[in-house]
Amino acid sequence: MIILAVESSCDETSVAIVKDGKTVLSHVILSQIDIHQAFGGVVPEIASRNHVVHMTRVFDEAIKQAKITTEAIDLVAVTKGPGLIGSLLVGINAATAFAFAHQKPLIGVNHLVGHIYAANIEYEIQFPALALLVSGGHTELLYIKDHLEIEMLGTTLDDAVGEAYDKVARTLGLSYPGGPIIDKLAQEGEDTYHLPRVYLDKDRFDFSFSGLKSAVINVVHNANQKGETIRVNDMCRSFQESVLDVLVDKTKRAAELLDVKQIILAGGVAANQGLRKRIQSEIKKRELLIPSLIYCTDNAAMIGIAAYYQYQKEGAHPNYLLGGESTISFPKYTKDEL
Ligand code: KG4
Ligand code: ZN
Repeated sequence: MIILAVESSCDETSVAIVKDGKTVLSHVILSQIDIHQAFGGVVPEIASRNHVVHMTRVFDEAIKQAKITTEAIDLVAVTKGPGLIGSLLVGINAATAFAFAHQKPLIGVNHLVGHIYAANIEYEIQFPALALLVSGGHTELLYIKDHLEIEMLGTTLDDAVGEAYDKVARTLGLSYPGGPIIDKLAQEGEDTYHLPRVYLDKDRFDFSFSGLKSAVINVVHNANQKGETIRVNDMCRSFQESVLDVLVDKTKRAAELLDVKQIILAGGVAANQGLRKRIQSEIKKRELLIPSLIYCTDNAAMIGIAAYYQYQKEGAHPNYLLGGESTISFPKYTKDEL
Protein backbone atom coordinates (compact mmCIF):
# COMPACT_ATOMS: atom_id res chain seq x y z
CA MET A 1 0.00 0.00 0.00
CA ILE A 2 1.45 3.36 -1.06
CA ILE A 3 0.60 6.34 1.13
CA LEU A 4 1.22 10.02 0.45
CA ALA A 5 1.59 11.74 3.83
CA VAL A 6 1.52 15.43 4.74
CA GLU A 7 2.80 17.12 7.92
CA SER A 8 2.42 20.84 8.61
CA SER A 9 1.60 21.10 12.32
CA CYS A 10 4.34 23.60 13.19
CA ASP A 11 7.15 25.09 11.08
CA GLU A 12 8.11 22.15 8.82
CA THR A 13 6.32 21.68 5.50
CA SER A 14 6.78 17.98 4.77
CA VAL A 15 5.42 15.41 2.32
CA ALA A 16 6.53 11.77 2.16
CA ILE A 17 5.62 8.71 0.14
CA VAL A 18 5.77 5.52 2.23
CA LYS A 19 5.04 1.89 1.51
CA ASP A 20 3.36 -0.72 3.75
CA GLY A 21 3.96 1.06 7.07
CA LYS A 22 7.71 0.57 6.77
CA THR A 23 9.56 1.81 3.70
CA VAL A 24 10.17 5.47 2.94
CA LEU A 25 10.15 5.94 -0.85
CA SER A 26 10.67 9.69 -0.67
CA HIS A 27 10.74 12.32 2.03
CA VAL A 28 10.83 16.09 1.58
CA ILE A 29 11.08 18.45 4.57
CA LEU A 30 11.16 22.19 4.09
CA SER A 31 12.11 23.83 7.39
CA GLN A 32 11.17 27.43 8.20
CA ILE A 33 13.62 27.67 11.11
CA ASP A 34 15.71 30.43 9.52
CA ILE A 35 12.57 32.58 9.08
CA HIS A 36 11.42 32.21 12.71
CA GLN A 37 14.92 32.57 14.21
CA ALA A 38 14.68 36.36 13.87
CA PHE A 39 11.69 36.30 16.27
CA GLY A 40 13.19 33.84 18.80
CA GLY A 41 10.37 31.32 18.25
CA VAL A 42 7.70 30.17 15.80
CA VAL A 43 5.25 32.93 14.78
CA PRO A 44 2.03 31.02 13.95
CA GLU A 45 0.73 33.42 11.27
CA ILE A 46 4.09 33.45 9.44
CA ALA A 47 4.27 29.65 9.67
CA SER A 48 0.81 29.24 8.07
CA ARG A 49 1.64 31.66 5.25
CA ASN A 50 4.87 29.86 4.44
CA HIS A 51 3.12 26.49 4.36
CA VAL A 52 0.77 27.97 1.74
CA VAL A 53 3.69 29.25 -0.35
CA HIS A 54 5.66 25.99 -0.40
CA MET A 55 3.12 23.17 -0.02
CA THR A 56 2.47 22.45 -3.72
CA ARG A 57 6.18 22.39 -4.55
CA VAL A 58 6.85 19.98 -1.67
CA PHE A 59 4.04 17.68 -2.93
CA ASP A 60 5.54 17.69 -6.46
CA GLU A 61 9.06 17.04 -5.22
CA ALA A 62 8.00 14.10 -3.01
CA ILE A 63 6.10 12.44 -5.88
CA LYS A 64 9.01 13.05 -8.27
CA GLN A 65 11.62 11.64 -5.87
CA ALA A 66 9.53 8.51 -5.20
CA LYS A 67 9.42 7.90 -8.98
CA ILE A 68 5.72 7.01 -8.86
CA THR A 69 2.67 8.30 -10.69
CA THR A 70 -0.27 9.73 -8.73
CA GLU A 71 -2.31 6.67 -9.83
CA ALA A 72 -0.03 4.48 -7.70
CA ILE A 73 -1.04 6.27 -4.49
CA ASP A 74 -3.56 4.23 -2.45
CA LEU A 75 -4.20 6.59 0.45
CA VAL A 76 -3.59 10.22 1.45
CA ALA A 77 -2.71 10.88 5.11
CA VAL A 78 -2.37 14.19 6.92
CA THR A 79 -1.62 15.40 10.45
CA LYS A 80 -4.94 16.52 11.94
CA GLY A 81 -3.51 17.75 15.29
CA PRO A 82 -2.29 18.65 17.81
CA GLY A 83 -0.42 21.66 16.49
CA LEU A 84 -0.79 25.27 15.37
CA ILE A 85 -4.32 25.47 14.05
CA GLY A 86 -3.50 27.69 11.03
CA SER A 87 -0.56 25.51 10.03
CA LEU A 88 -2.61 22.33 10.42
CA LEU A 89 -5.37 23.71 8.22
CA VAL A 90 -2.97 24.38 5.34
CA GLY A 91 -1.81 20.74 5.32
CA ILE A 92 -5.35 19.43 5.79
CA ASN A 93 -6.70 21.53 2.92
CA ALA A 94 -3.83 20.54 0.62
CA ALA A 95 -4.22 16.82 1.42
CA THR A 96 -8.02 17.00 1.09
CA ALA A 97 -7.83 18.78 -2.27
CA PHE A 98 -5.27 16.25 -3.56
CA ALA A 99 -7.31 13.28 -2.32
CA PHE A 100 -10.55 14.65 -3.79
CA ALA A 101 -9.00 15.58 -7.14
CA HIS A 102 -7.39 12.14 -7.56
CA GLN A 103 -10.28 10.26 -5.90
CA LYS A 104 -8.09 8.72 -3.17
CA PRO A 105 -9.25 7.89 0.36
CA LEU A 106 -8.15 10.37 3.07
CA ILE A 107 -7.13 9.78 6.68
CA GLY A 108 -6.28 12.22 9.51
CA VAL A 109 -3.45 11.17 11.87
CA ASN A 110 -2.65 12.34 15.41
CA HIS A 111 0.77 14.04 15.31
CA LEU A 112 1.87 12.34 18.56
CA VAL A 113 0.96 8.89 17.23
CA GLY A 114 3.08 9.80 14.20
CA HIS A 115 6.08 10.56 16.44
CA ILE A 116 5.75 7.12 18.05
CA TYR A 117 5.46 5.30 14.71
CA ALA A 118 8.65 6.98 13.46
CA ALA A 119 10.35 4.13 15.33
CA ASN A 120 8.78 1.59 12.95
CA ILE A 121 10.86 2.85 10.02
CA GLU A 122 14.21 1.56 11.28
CA TYR A 123 12.93 -0.95 13.86
CA GLU A 124 9.79 -3.03 14.33
CA ILE A 125 7.54 -1.93 17.18
CA GLN A 126 6.56 -4.82 19.47
CA PHE A 127 4.08 -4.81 22.33
CA PRO A 128 3.77 -3.92 25.10
CA ALA A 129 6.01 -0.90 24.58
CA LEU A 130 6.69 2.31 26.45
CA ALA A 131 7.23 5.61 24.65
CA LEU A 132 8.99 8.63 26.06
CA LEU A 133 7.53 11.34 23.82
CA VAL A 134 9.46 14.56 24.24
CA SER A 135 8.90 17.51 21.90
CA GLY A 136 8.36 21.25 21.79
CA GLY A 137 4.75 20.85 22.91
CA HIS A 138 4.66 17.51 24.77
CA THR A 139 6.37 15.49 27.48
CA GLU A 140 4.58 12.19 27.89
CA LEU A 141 5.20 8.67 29.05
CA LEU A 142 2.89 6.43 27.07
CA TYR A 143 1.99 2.77 27.48
CA ILE A 144 1.41 1.12 24.10
CA LYS A 145 -0.55 -2.11 24.49
CA ASP A 146 -0.99 -2.84 20.81
CA HIS A 147 -1.17 -0.98 17.51
CA LEU A 148 -2.88 2.35 18.25
CA GLU A 149 -3.90 1.27 21.78
CA ILE A 150 -2.09 3.99 23.65
CA GLU A 151 -2.64 5.13 27.24
CA MET A 152 -1.03 8.04 29.03
CA LEU A 153 0.96 7.25 32.16
CA GLY A 154 2.06 10.81 32.76
CA THR A 155 2.41 14.20 31.15
CA THR A 156 3.86 17.60 31.93
CA LEU A 157 1.92 19.73 34.36
CA ASP A 158 3.38 22.93 32.91
CA ASP A 159 6.13 23.46 30.30
CA ALA A 160 6.99 20.75 27.78
CA VAL A 161 10.63 19.75 27.88
CA GLY A 162 11.44 21.20 24.41
CA GLU A 163 9.71 24.43 25.42
CA ALA A 164 11.91 24.59 28.55
CA TYR A 165 15.01 24.06 26.35
CA ASP A 166 13.93 26.88 24.02
CA LYS A 167 13.14 29.30 26.89
CA VAL A 168 16.39 28.56 28.76
CA ALA A 169 18.31 29.10 25.51
CA ARG A 170 16.64 32.47 25.08
CA THR A 171 17.56 33.44 28.67
CA LEU A 172 21.18 32.54 27.91
CA GLY A 173 21.15 34.63 24.72
CA LEU A 174 21.28 31.56 22.43
CA SER A 175 19.27 31.35 19.22
CA TYR A 176 16.10 29.39 18.35
CA PRO A 177 15.57 26.44 18.51
CA GLY A 178 17.45 26.16 21.79
CA GLY A 179 17.48 22.36 22.14
CA PRO A 180 20.27 21.49 19.68
CA ILE A 181 22.47 24.40 20.87
CA ILE A 182 22.11 23.60 24.58
CA ASP A 183 22.79 19.95 23.74
CA LYS A 184 26.02 20.89 21.93
CA LEU A 185 27.29 23.35 24.56
CA ALA A 186 26.39 20.91 27.37
CA GLN A 187 28.95 18.49 25.96
CA GLU A 188 31.65 21.10 26.65
CA GLY A 189 30.49 22.01 30.18
CA GLU A 190 30.23 20.58 33.72
CA ASP A 191 27.22 20.24 36.04
CA THR A 192 28.45 22.97 38.41
CA TYR A 193 25.23 24.94 39.04
CA HIS A 194 23.40 22.04 40.74
CA LEU A 195 19.89 22.93 39.61
CA PRO A 196 16.82 21.25 41.16
CA ARG A 197 15.53 17.86 40.00
CA VAL A 198 11.74 18.00 39.97
CA TYR A 199 10.45 14.44 40.41
CA LEU A 200 7.06 15.44 41.89
CA ASP A 201 5.91 12.07 43.28
CA LYS A 202 8.71 9.58 42.48
CA ASP A 203 6.24 6.76 41.90
CA ARG A 204 4.10 8.68 39.45
CA PHE A 205 4.89 9.70 35.93
CA ASP A 206 3.92 13.33 35.59
CA PHE A 207 6.59 15.94 34.85
CA SER A 208 7.17 19.60 35.64
CA PHE A 209 9.84 21.77 34.03
CA SER A 210 8.78 25.35 34.73
CA GLY A 211 10.49 25.38 38.18
CA LEU A 212 13.75 24.29 36.59
CA LYS A 213 13.39 26.98 33.92
CA SER A 214 12.75 29.59 36.65
CA ALA A 215 15.81 28.36 38.56
CA VAL A 216 18.00 29.06 35.51
CA ILE A 217 16.39 32.49 35.05
CA ASN A 218 17.05 33.33 38.75
CA VAL A 219 20.72 32.33 38.58
CA VAL A 220 21.16 34.42 35.41
CA HIS A 221 19.38 37.49 36.88
CA ASN A 222 21.34 37.28 40.15
CA ALA A 223 24.60 37.05 38.24
CA ASN A 224 23.61 40.04 36.06
CA GLN A 225 22.79 42.14 39.13
CA LYS A 226 26.18 41.35 40.69
CA GLY A 227 28.01 41.99 37.41
CA GLU A 228 29.12 38.34 37.25
CA THR A 229 29.21 36.33 34.03
CA ILE A 230 27.44 33.03 33.55
CA ARG A 231 29.54 30.09 32.40
CA VAL A 232 27.17 29.25 29.56
CA ASN A 233 28.56 25.77 28.81
CA ASP A 234 28.32 24.80 32.50
CA MET A 235 24.78 26.18 32.73
CA CYS A 236 23.74 24.18 29.62
CA ARG A 237 25.25 21.03 31.14
CA SER A 238 23.63 21.66 34.53
CA PHE A 239 20.22 22.23 32.94
CA GLN A 240 20.55 19.19 30.69
CA GLU A 241 21.66 16.91 33.55
CA SER A 242 18.67 17.98 35.63
CA VAL A 243 16.28 17.25 32.73
CA LEU A 244 17.90 13.89 31.92
CA ASP A 245 17.96 12.67 35.54
CA VAL A 246 14.18 13.06 35.74
CA LEU A 247 13.31 11.80 32.23
CA VAL A 248 15.49 8.70 32.46
CA ASP A 249 14.53 7.86 36.06
CA LYS A 250 10.79 7.98 35.31
CA THR A 251 11.22 6.04 32.07
CA LYS A 252 13.12 3.28 33.90
CA ARG A 253 10.50 3.08 36.65
CA ALA A 254 7.60 2.91 34.16
CA ALA A 255 9.38 0.22 32.12
CA GLU A 256 9.89 -1.91 35.25
CA LEU A 257 6.35 -1.45 36.51
CA LEU A 258 4.72 -2.40 33.21
CA ASP A 259 7.41 -4.88 32.19
CA VAL A 260 7.46 -3.64 28.59
CA LYS A 261 9.39 -5.31 25.75
CA GLN A 262 10.60 -2.09 24.16
CA ILE A 263 11.23 1.54 24.98
CA ILE A 264 10.67 4.05 22.17
CA LEU A 265 12.24 7.50 22.16
CA ALA A 266 10.08 9.92 20.18
CA GLY A 267 9.75 13.64 19.37
CA GLY A 268 12.19 16.46 18.66
CA VAL A 269 13.97 16.25 22.04
CA ALA A 270 14.74 12.58 21.29
CA ALA A 271 17.40 14.06 18.96
CA ASN A 272 19.27 15.09 22.13
CA GLN A 273 22.68 13.40 22.19
CA GLY A 274 22.85 13.48 25.99
CA LEU A 275 19.45 11.74 26.29
CA ARG A 276 20.32 9.14 23.65
CA LYS A 277 23.60 8.24 25.37
CA ARG A 278 22.19 8.24 28.89
CA ILE A 279 19.22 6.04 28.07
CA GLN A 280 21.49 3.61 26.20
CA SER A 281 23.88 3.35 29.13
CA GLU A 282 21.16 2.99 31.79
CA ILE A 283 18.68 0.69 30.08
CA LYS A 284 20.25 -2.63 29.17
CA LYS A 285 17.45 -5.11 29.84
CA ARG A 286 14.98 -3.90 27.22
CA GLU A 287 15.20 -3.15 23.52
CA LEU A 288 15.61 0.55 22.83
CA LEU A 289 14.13 2.08 19.68
CA ILE A 290 15.93 5.36 19.02
CA PRO A 291 15.12 6.74 15.55
CA SER A 292 17.63 8.63 13.41
CA LEU A 293 17.61 12.38 14.02
CA ILE A 294 15.61 13.10 10.85
CA TYR A 295 12.72 10.94 12.14
CA CYS A 296 12.77 12.50 15.64
CA THR A 297 11.90 16.05 14.63
CA ASP A 298 8.69 16.78 12.69
CA ASN A 299 8.42 14.89 9.39
CA ALA A 300 5.74 13.45 7.12
CA ALA A 301 7.21 9.93 6.90
CA MET A 302 6.12 9.18 10.48
CA ILE A 303 2.56 10.28 9.61
CA GLY A 304 2.49 7.88 6.64
CA ILE A 305 3.72 4.99 8.80
CA ALA A 306 1.08 5.61 11.49
CA ALA A 307 -1.58 6.04 8.76
CA TYR A 308 -0.90 2.53 7.45
CA TYR A 309 -1.80 0.93 10.81
CA GLN A 310 -4.70 3.31 11.42
CA TYR A 311 -6.16 2.48 8.00
CA GLN A 312 -6.05 -1.28 8.76
CA LYS A 313 -8.02 -0.61 11.91
CA GLU A 314 -10.43 2.21 11.08
CA GLY A 315 -10.46 2.66 7.32
CA ALA A 316 -10.42 6.08 5.69
CA HIS A 317 -12.31 9.23 6.56
CA PRO A 318 -15.68 8.96 4.80
CA ASN A 319 -16.40 12.40 3.39
CA TYR A 320 -13.19 14.41 3.00
CA LEU A 321 -14.17 16.66 5.91
CA LEU A 322 -11.24 16.77 8.32
CA GLY A 323 -11.00 19.62 10.79
CA GLY A 324 -7.78 20.84 12.42
CA GLU A 325 -7.87 19.57 16.01
CA SER A 326 -5.15 21.17 18.11
CA THR A 327 -5.78 19.30 21.37
CA ILE A 328 -6.04 15.56 20.68
CA SER A 329 -4.63 13.56 23.61
CA PHE A 330 -4.53 10.01 24.97
CA PRO A 331 -6.76 8.36 27.60
CA LYS A 332 -5.20 8.13 31.07
CA TYR A 333 -3.87 4.76 32.22
CA THR A 334 -6.15 3.74 35.06
CA LYS A 335 -4.69 0.59 36.67
CA ASP A 336 -4.41 0.78 40.48
CA GLU A 337 -0.61 0.90 40.48
CA LEU A 338 -0.56 4.54 39.41
O1 KG4 B 1 8.92 17.27 17.58
P1 KG4 B 1 9.40 18.63 17.23
O2 KG4 B 1 10.21 18.79 15.96
O3 KG4 B 1 8.19 19.63 17.13
C1 KG4 B 1 7.09 19.52 18.00
O4 KG4 B 1 6.19 18.69 17.73
O5 KG4 B 1 7.14 20.26 19.03
O6 KG4 B 1 10.22 19.19 18.48
C2 KG4 B 1 10.81 20.46 18.49
C3 KG4 B 1 11.51 20.65 19.81
C4 KG4 B 1 12.08 22.07 20.02
O7 KG4 B 1 11.68 22.53 21.30
C5 KG4 B 1 13.60 21.85 19.96
O8 KG4 B 1 14.32 22.76 20.77
C6 KG4 B 1 13.72 20.43 20.48
O9 KG4 B 1 12.64 19.74 19.90
N1 KG4 B 1 14.99 19.80 20.06
C7 KG4 B 1 15.93 19.42 20.96
C8 KG4 B 1 17.02 18.91 20.20
N2 KG4 B 1 16.68 18.98 18.86
C9 KG4 B 1 15.43 19.53 18.82
N3 KG4 B 1 15.96 19.47 22.30
C10 KG4 B 1 17.05 19.02 22.93
N4 KG4 B 1 18.14 18.54 22.27
C11 KG4 B 1 18.16 18.46 20.92
N5 KG4 B 1 19.24 17.97 20.28
ZN1 ZN C 1 6.33 17.09 16.69
